[in-house]
Amino acid sequence: MNILILGGAGFVGSNLVRRCLKEPGNNLLVVDSLDPRLKSTTAHLKRVWPKIEFIKGDLRDASLMKKVVQKKDVIFNCAAQTSHPLSLTDPFFDVEVNCLGNLTLLEAVKKYNKKALVIYPSSSTVIGRSSEKAVDETHVERPLDIYSANKSVAEKYYRIYNRVHDLNTLSIRFANLYGPYGKGYPEFGFINYFIARAFDGKEIPIYGDGNQKRNIMYIEDAAELLYQCISHQDIFGHVYFAVHREHHPVIDIAKEIVSVYGKGKIKKVAWPDVRKRIEINNVAISGAKLYNHIPYKPKYRLREGLERTKKIMETVI
Ligand SMILES: NC(=O)c1ccc[n+]([C@@H]2O[C@H](COP(=O)([O-])OP(=O)(O)OC[C@H]3O[C@@H](n4cnc5c(N)ncnc54)[C@H](O)[C@@H]3O)[C@@H](O)[C@H]2O)c1
Repeated sequence: MNILILGGAGFVGSNLVRRCLKEPGNNLLVVDSLDPRLKSTTAHLKRVWPKIEFIKGDLRDASLMKKVVQKKDVIFNCAAQTSHPLSLTDPFFDVEVNCLGNLTLLEAVKKYNKKALVIYPSSSTVIGRSSEKAVDETHVERPLDIYSANKSVAEKYYRIYNRVHDLNTLSIRFANLYGPYGKGYPEFGFINYFIARAFDGKEIPIYGDGNQKRNIMYIEDAAELLYQCISHQDIFGHVYFAVHREHHPVIDIAKEIVSVYGKGKIKKVAWPDVRKRIEINNVAISGAKLYNHIPYKPKYRLREGLERTKKIMETVI
């Protein structure tokens, strides 16, 4: 298959590159803007570099999108502005990438490659604070920050291009992914930040009592799910949650990280004002709708995922 991975230097993208390379016969084109505001580099692609074609380029560049979407069987769009706090301090940047960027891609696919399968990793945070005990795709969307609002808007674009222009689009909502090749900075996913702090033997800050529960998923499971979607064309045109059945308080996740890494120290700190305002509280999501269609279910439990992450970090760094 000819596969295009946009945002392929990022956390999800670079793991997905590895998953796609497991299949002989896959040709991979990876595009990433390597935007310094998002602390992106090609470091995580170093080991797979000889096996991929890479273009430093932007999702918002219509002429580039025209060129790269052609002759592709599958397009994964992992290119995004992914920081919740940055989306609040620079909302226009978030709109440019997460709204205009997705529209630029969809227009290119509409004009130059209508047959491609286009898969969009969305976010569970589109729902905001959950009003029900178990959340599924029928839950109302009340996003609490600009990033989550724009992820929700982009999902609608993908759906509209499916309904109106017959594109094969699919949105998969993930929640709190963790694992190797993640960004160890506080403004991105919190589990990868905790892992980086433990790896460096530093303090791991927990907001409040840490009892807020989260669905989490190991990244190799997420990459496998995205890849499996290719073989299930009946799910295109829809939106699905993709979560592991595990659901942990933040404090327990931090404790498990300290236990696996044998380093790091948990420190409870006061909630920063902005974090409190966008906090989603306890959310328990069901992935049942997707797993009715796809035979693969996320298999790595937290400890196993952390152990795999540690092993890869120790080999790569
Ligand atoms: N990591 C998670 O826990 C998680 C959870 C839910 C959804 N998602 C979604 O998965 C996707 C990938 O997230 P991630 O965690 O890998 O983030 P990431 O920040 O690690 O990767 C995003 C990549 O996109 C690139 N990029 C940004 N703007 C671009 C542009 N205009 N043109 C080309 N490339 C651009 C960045 O340079 C970066 O390498 C995002 O859509 C995100 O919303 C991630």
